[in-house]
Amino acid sequence: MKTEERTFVAIKPDGVKRGLIGKIIERFENKGFKIVAMKLLQVTPELASQHYAEHNGKPFYTRLVHYITSGPVVAMVVEGYDAIESVRHMVGATNPMNADVGTIRADFAQVMEYNVIHASDSPASAQREINLYFKPEEIYDNWQSMLEMITYDEERFQG
Ligand code: PPS
Repeated sequence: MKTEERTFVAIKPDGVKRGLIGKIIERFENKGFKIVAMKLLQVTPELASQHYAEHNGKPFYTRLVHYITSGPVVAMVVEGYDAIESVRHMVGATNPMNADVGTIRADFAQVMEYNVIHASDSPASAQREINLYFKPEEIYDNWQSMLEMITYDEERFQG
């Protein structure tokens, strides 16, 4: 069974402003994940409302849109073995106070309103969010990561 997946990750404006881009990306590279798309962009109110459509109407919605549009974000597509669940584990719980030690939110954030990073929570969200932020031609997967060969071997998981 092929379990290689792609997920969408965004370093939020507080992460960018605090100079954490390198430290956060390093964790995904160290894990052996392959970054197949990446850009710095300013999220517009329109894009924010599409991204967070499912939360429209919740008490924190306005704050959430204000936060994600408050400065540039670094958007990425991260590829690897069970990447969606695995990246969510690395990111940690929504509220950094409850996030396991060693996760990005536990290590870099204090409060839910500034939790540094976003990662897709399901295959459907991953696909939707990748499509929102990236055109197909902005995704580059026609190269072999050295880590791909060493950190997992697709054939091991077949049959
Ligand atoms: S929910 O209600 O269970 O669907 O919420 P959750 O999936 O945990 O979070 C959805 C996104 O909203 C942010 N969030 C908040 N921001 C500010 N204040 C409060 N109280 C709050 N609760 C949730 C949370 O960080 C999620 O953002 P992303 O970018 O998806 O991580």
